[in-house]
Amino acid sequence: MKKIKVPLGARSYYILIKKGIISSSGRIIKKLNIANACFIVTNKKIKALYGSRLKKSLLNSGLDAMFHTVADSERSKSHLSWFRTTQSLARFDRGRGVCVISLGGGVVGDLGGFVAATYRRGTAFIQIPTTLLAQVDSSIGGKVAIDLDFAKNLVGAFHQPRVVLTDPHVLRTLSSRQISNGMAEVVKYAVIFDKRLFSYLEKNISRILKLDPVCMEYIIYRCSRLKAEVVGADEKEKKGYRSVLNFGHTIGHAIESASCYKQTLNHGEAISIGMLAAFDIATNLGMITDRSVSRLEGLLKKAGLPAKAKGINPLKVIAATGYDKKIINGRKRWIIPEGIGHTIICSNVPADIIKESVLKRVVQA
Ligand SMILES: NC(=O)c1ccc[n+]([C@@H]2O[C@H](COP(=O)([O-])OP(=O)(O)OC[C@H]3O[C@@H](n4cnc5c(N)ncnc54)[C@H](O)[C@@H]3O)[C@@H](O)[C@H]2O)c1
Ligand SMILES: [Zn+2]
Repeated sequence: MKKIKVPLGARSYYILIKKGIISSSGRIIKKLNIANACFIVTNKKIKALYGSRLKKSLLNSGLDAMFHTVADSERSKSHLSWFRTTQSLARFDRGRGVCVISLGGGVVGDLGGFVAATYRRGTAFIQIPTTLLAQVDSSIGGKVAIDLDFAKNLVGAFHQPRVVLTDPHVLRTLSSRQISNGMAEVVKYAVIFDKRLFSYLEKNISRILKLDPVCMEYIIYRCSRLKAEVVGADEKEKKGYRSVLNFGHTIGHAIESASCYKQTLNHGEAISIGMLAAFDIATNLGMITDRSVSRLEGLLKKAGLPAKAKGINPLKVIAATGYDKKIINGRKRWIIPEGIGHTIICSNVPADIIKESVLKRVVQA
């Protein structure tokens, strides 16, 4: 088993990565001594795939368990869904000491986490991520949120899990598009921090897409470690370290928002285009060479990710960048690459350079 500590003083916790770990979850959770009963937030598909082995393990360890399923959609991160989930949790709890387990991708991770953050002003929370995106990114670091009708993740909290149980084996049932979705975040870590990881991805991309167990364990471990280090250094995104994880997300989120979250592009696909746009900006600023752009574009393409967004109004995307969270004192902050393996934060990128890069990457027709 691979074990990574997220170093947060008294709130430190471990990410445990092991094939089949769901079947040991009861024993691990029991040892934490945080609850007598587990409220599992998931959806029907994931419950059918992995619910029984989780429940069996919890019951075998003397923990009561109940499933709460939500629709398999980003719409489950709504205030109504938060309210219903919390009511169901309160009925199950009856004051006996309950923890919330999110079993699934980032949607149930964010919803379950926000329910746990707000119920009784903070209830113990456990992440069992089942998408690649959730395993390498959203399950780590305690950002939990629900959406407003017009903007994602605007209502949220920092609420760290007590443990993250990552089973690379569950990725076998994920669609190849969802693997590519998660690969966008994996590539993101490589570009920001780790040029060796980038070369590893270039060399092994076909094995990764076939879910080779050695490759999957390595990339999940490496990305989880990088995220754990960043969260440990800057939990609440106050010191600047954590904000580099938003690389590719300024234009990526703007693309998601301009397409009204219609899911023509998923998060990773939007981030793929956002990362390339950030590389275009860096090229225009004279900070990187065309060779870096073509390496990134080549890797993303092989990972099944797009280089351009089609059918989206680029002017809407440019306008939407103005609503991004990464605005400090009215100035937009851009995470710009200085090559592969290193980024910097810029707050004075000329508007025409941003416009040019969006027009290159987002086309209406
Ligand atoms: N909190 C954070 O730090 C953070 C970071 C990144 C993204 N997010 C959020 O995460 C969400 C996206 O998460 P996601 O990409 O995991 O999407 P998701 O949760 O919608 O899951 C994608 C799809 O995969 C299915 N699925 C999940 N695990 C499966 C498995 N093992 N086998 C078969 N199917 C499976 C789901 O049912 C769903 O249909 C967004 O809401 C985003 O805002 C949060
Ligand atoms: Zn992301």
